[in-house]
Amino acid sequence: SIIVLDYGSQYNQLITRRIRDFGIYSELLPHTITAAEIKAIAPKGIILSGGPNSVYDPKALQIDADIWQLGIPILGICYGMQLMMHDLGGKVEAAGAPEYGHADITVTKSESLLFAGLPAQQFVWMSHGDRVTKIPTDFDIVAISDNTPYAVVENADQKLYGIQFHAEVRNTEYGLDILKNFAFKICGAQANWTMSDFIDQQIDQIRATVGNRKVLLGLSGGVDSSVVGVLLHKAIGNQLTSIFVDHGLLRKGEAEQVMDSLEGKFGLNIIKVNAQERFMNKLKGISDPEQKRKIIGNEFIQVFNDEAQKLDGIDFLAQGTLYTDVIESGTNTAQTIKSHHNVGGLPEDMHFQLIEPLRTLFKDEVRELGEQLDMPHELVWRQPFPGPGLGIRVLGEITADKLQIVRDSDYILREEIKNAGLEKEVWQYFTVLPGMRSVGVMGDGRTYDYTVGIRAVTSIDGMTADFAQIPWEVLSKISTRITNEVDHVNRVVYDITSKPPATIEWE
Ligand code: XMP
Repeated sequence: SIIVLDYGSQYNQLITRRIRDFGIYSELLPHTITAAEIKAIAPKGIILSGGPNSVYDPKALQIDADIWQLGIPILGICYGMQLMMHDLGGKVEAAGAPEYGHADITVTKSESLLFAGLPAQQFVWMSHGDRVTKIPTDFDIVAISDNTPYAVVENADQKLYGIQFHAEVRNTEYGLDILKNFAFKICGAQANWTMSDFIDQQIDQIRATVGNRKVLLGLSGGVDSSVVGVLLHKAIGNQLTSIFVDHGLLRKGEAEQVMDSLEGKFGLNIIKVNAQERFMNKLKGISDPEQKRKIIGNEFIQVFNDEAQKLDGIDFLAQGTLYTDVIESGTNTAQTIKSHHNVGGLPEDMHFQLIEPLRTLFKDEVRELGEQLDMPHELVWRQPFPGPGLGIRVLGEITADKLQIVRDSDYILREEIKNAGLEKEVWQYFTVLPGMRSVGVMGDGRTYDYTVGIRAVTSIDGMTADFAQIPWEVLSKISTRITNEVDHVNRVVYDITSKPPATIEWE
């Protein structure tokens, strides 16, 4: 494997993802890991991620100095490089102006293995406020840019490499090749890891953790928790009990579908809880998005607690948390963007230990996992649906009437996307109710009614997204149907923002 040490960059899990795509197992580990712990894992290589700190800050995230001496190849990216320079006798200082975005580099040491087979001129993506101003005497310069004489450095004998730019992002022209050179040519890793290895690994790990104890799974019916359910069922069979909470924030027909396929086809033991009233009561009068998310998350766990108490001896709670949920809710090292309900909203007095087998994966990897587990296509390719459900698609305070509008308009949208054969092309699509009303005319009368927003995006992993270019005639049909068939809607608008700067959901 190649391990990545976490120094807090928003994109650090992307590095592990790239490496896994090469067929090499990779995971993100805390930067506090010791040299001895790494030795026990015996990885082929180590990558130090980027991060927002300055290495000369007294609170800067450090590295166990013995790691430099392990003889395992190390690639420092951005902050990781600066840490390497700082610790090994070089110097890092605040740059006059931060360097952000496109930069051209020139490879000056052509025999460097990092750039084997790559052109001398290439463009890269820079994002740093500090710069290396002096390198340790036993390091060579490999590449320079206009703004930095130390864009890439190496000590080839000790297999220590530093790059000031981000090789993991697509805006770096040969980023993937540079990572490949590090993994294969420098670390000597082999491409022999597959998703079915991941399944075996997880099953072993789940069995070792759980023993003969019992696990409770919160099943939402989405791809993530369904995959976790099938994976756990495979690992521990009937030691798994699943709870499916109908919080009243589900889409039309969703509850029935989930029960039919997971209980019916896969034989999971599912308890369905009708908790609509509980959630509505808790959410009454609440309009702040973060507060709504936290309430829904807490209530979920409360419902679990209540149900679990009726069961005997449950020790674990399994969740379909993905990497994107973890990173956007903030880790120890990265900043919070939104609290995803299955991470940030957890109460502190939780009675369970957590099992989150998908915590390191991206959405498309989870789908691949689902396929490998022989799950039905329609389930595996179901578009993502957030835990807080329609609760974050009715903006502001949630009422039964508003939920009905979102539910009905969403159903029409889904039908028409399906009719147009766009289900796979558009990554996620739904309607939102901003809560604003405007003037319209229907028949001969004036109306003053709600506006429905259509959100449809293309994306690979939900981290970034573009608004989907749905053909006008499809949009036109959707609009006509929504205004005709859904009460109290007299206007339909289409969200033409990408992520960033917007997010996919509106709350
Ligand atoms: P945003 O709105 O952050 O959404 O761009 C990215 C993806 O995550 C989904 N999402 C959630 N998923 N719990 C989830 O399991 C949540 O609290 C949550 N919030 C957003 C969203 O639907 C999109 O696919």
